Amino acid sequence: MAQVSATAQRLKSGWSHRSAAVGAILAMSFVVLTGAPAIPQPATANPPSTLQETGLYADPVTLQVDSAHLAFAPQYPLWSDGATKRRWISLPPGTAIDGSDPEAWIFPVGTRFWKEFSFNGEKVETRYLERRADGQWLYAAYAWSDDGREAQLVSVRGRRGAYPLAGGRSHTIPGVTDCKACHQGGPSEILGFGTLQLSSERDAGAIHAELQPEPHVDLAHLVDRGLLVGLPKALRDAPPRIAAATATERAALGYLHGNCGHCHNERGSLQNIALFLRHRAETTGEPALASTVAQPVRKPAPGQSPDAVLRVEPGHPERSGLVQRVSSRSPALQMPPLGTELIDDEAVRLLYRWIEEKGASIQQAHANAEGR
Ligand code: HEC
Ligand code: HEC
Repeated sequence: MAQVSATAQRLKSGWSHRSAAVGAILAMSFVVLTGAPAIPQPATANPPSTLQETGLYADPVTLQVDSAHLAFAPQYPLWSDGATKRRWISLPPGTAIDGSDPEAWIFPVGTRFWKEFSFNGEKVETRYLERRADGQWLYAAYAWSDDGREAQLVSVRGRRGAYPLAGGRSHTIPGVTDCKACHQGGPSEILGFGTLQLSSERDAGAIHAELQPEPHVDLAHLVDRGLLVGLPKALRDAPPRIAAATATERAALGYLHGNCGHCHNERGSLQNIALFLRHRAETTGEPALASTVAQPVRKPAPGQSPDAVLRVEPGHPERSGLVQRVSSRSPALQMPPLGTELIDDEAVRLLYRWIEEKGASIQQAHANAEGR
């Protein structure tokens, strides 16, 4: 009954035109409404209605996280308007991740991930992913009560106005379509628990870096504990790192990997733009350099200045198309297009420094060549 009225409520409030995924859920709901025979679904096809029921906590009152879960922090985190994040993974006992494809680890059925977002010390939402028996990932978000004691499932459309941010803006809890726009845009649906993100050789220059929880869950730790199998030997022997000319460049490419590479990569639906910001563990050379530096902007966005003809113009961050997009939060121009309301000033400064240094080193190379 609760299911039917919730569905009716959703129908009344009107689904957006945006999503096939939402349409599929709607079609499933109709089955419930009309009493037509339901298609058998795995037991957990619908997310639990409270965060507590996902099994994150050992104790619902103290909110003590189950000590069997592993806390982790990717080295190049996603910027979400300054939210503080905590993340955990739970693998079913006796199982291991298959790392034979370093770009797309295969997680056992029953794997669960949580990511908690806080602003100013207040928990706002916790996101949840669970690998179901049919191999699909279940997506859910839980919004915290004002007193921070419990978190309830958010509708698949997400929730605006979840927490006030600067400049009259507010944090939006993404709808499931938006989760998938980021998580299903590349080789792996899991974005922060992978080969580069968990490299044992972490980038000291990474921006927005978080303290790694103890014990440090990285490639070596996972392999030693038998939780990650099949990782190619070369990556076990030499921890992956971005090949860059300078520390600034390494951090800049790392930022682009963590904040942009899930949409801009060789395998996803945006591959035709040929902007490859995702680092690949086994290739030599950085696709993020080859597809940005001195490369023409394909399609100038509204609001981009007319002199921004290159994605990255060495020596000229201010007229580099890529930087103009990162420096904007006007919907038609901004990058990333989702998940952020405020300009990431630290990222803008890092990209400026990188592109200025790149210009200086090219000039230096010319001067050296002429001097010869
Ligand atoms: C703007 C893109 C974006 C959107 C929208 C987004 N995510 Fe993520 N998510 C990421 C990235 C990138 C990471 C890894 C980096 C990090 O955690 O800082 C991540 C990490 C996670 C993790 C930890 C496991 C992992 O993949 O590393 C969970 C759980 C998660 N997201 C769930 C969700 C859910 C559920 C939604 C929708 C309610 C959602 N995300 C929306 C980009 C996004
Ligand atoms: C949720 C997916 C998504 C994420 C994340 C994302 N982008 Fe994009 N990006 C797009 C789409 C879609 C387009 C094409 C539409 C447009 O031009 O706005 C695009 C276009 C671009 C272009 C224009 C390319 C050209 O030559 O015309 C640039 C540059 C760009 N993105 C940079 C970035 C950067 C830098 C980040 C990270 C800070 C980022 N994007 C994150 C989806 C994404």
